[in-house]
Amino acid sequence: MIIGTDTKLAADYLREGKLVAIPTETVYGLAANAYNAEAVAAIFKAKNRPFFDPLILHTASLHQIKDFVTEISDTAYLLAENFWAGALTLVLPKKPIVSDLVTSGLPDVAVRIPHHALTLDLLESLDFPLAAPSANPFGYISPTSAAHVATQLGDQVAYILDGGCSRIGIESTIVRIVGDKAIVLRKGGVRIEDLRRILGADKVEVLSHSSSRPEVPGQLKSHYSPKIPFFLCDIPSFLASHEGKKIAVLSFEHFYASAYINIVLSERGDFAEAAARLFSAMRELDVSDADMIVADLLPERDLGIAINDRLRRAAAQG
Ligand code: TXA
Ligand code: MG
Repeated sequence: MIIGTDTKLAADYLREGKLVAIPTETVYGLAANAYNAEAVAAIFKAKNRPFFDPLILHTASLHQIKDFVTEISDTAYLLAENFWAGALTLVLPKKPIVSDLVTSGLPDVAVRIPHHALTLDLLESLDFPLAAPSANPFGYISPTSAAHVATQLGDQVAYILDGGCSRIGIESTIVRIVGDKAIVLRKGGVRIEDLRRILGADKVEVLSHSSSRPEVPGQLKSHYSPKIPFFLCDIPSFLASHEGKKIAVLSFEHFYASAYINIVLSERGDFAEAAARLFSAMRELDVSDADMIVADLLPERDLGIAINDRLRRAAAQG
């Protein structure tokens, strides 16, 4: 495994069917040529990802997307115009060139144009889209730096394209278009409020997740799982009732002096700063020798919605 910023070398590896980790503004992806079935299969193997969990295709332009989707509706265009390049994934009807392996047999394919200069350079130089899930072992916390990828999947990739820390820090918002409505399948880096502003408040529906039959595995109740037991609770009362234990605290704004370790996501209460730090903070606490991790929820608005979603899943056991 090599880490660097050489998009030409990354492109060569991808043309050979090898795996390359790519930086995006949301999280790092584990990428392969989406039209090469063997390379796509290698993604599932490297992540230990079940085949029922479909992949997102990444491209540099709407023009390229037309190669592999049959239709981009007016509503889809409106969202694309407003949020691409960016943290929005659209689920669109696929052409046969996209294999069932990519979509897990679904008739639709998930697509995104990421907002990251290095990765856009790379994508522009390729004549195929990149299939890329987040570059973490299945079920674990998503990576927001090249070092995160190197630690967990370093021996599985030919190259890690180092684009620095992910600016947004949580995954894309996934939307399915039904008529003139957007159904949010996964809460993420594009705010629900912003979707409503563009489409109208009554045109955006947020799917509440189910653990038993998730439409997308990002909806699995237990996901983003730290190895140390993780609780969502009122922090002062949790600390008071666990005296003598090493309690790691992941808090939004406040610092708790009686905690064993405390990472404050944003002292000034800024949602974007909190999102950008969330996954690194979870990883840092997870490699500590704390007995338990306790976190509190953010206000349920803005990026707080997507952050709380990740925290609830981290806290769900099984
Ligand atoms: O921000 C992101 O979206 C990152 C970066 C790398 O782009 N990618 C990411 O991929 O989070 P992943 O594989 O960890 O999550 C993608 C989600 C999965 O839960 C998958 O089930 C869903 O997208 N998905 C993919 N194709 C789909 C489809 N055809 N219909 C519905 N959901 C789909
Ligand atoms: Mg993922």
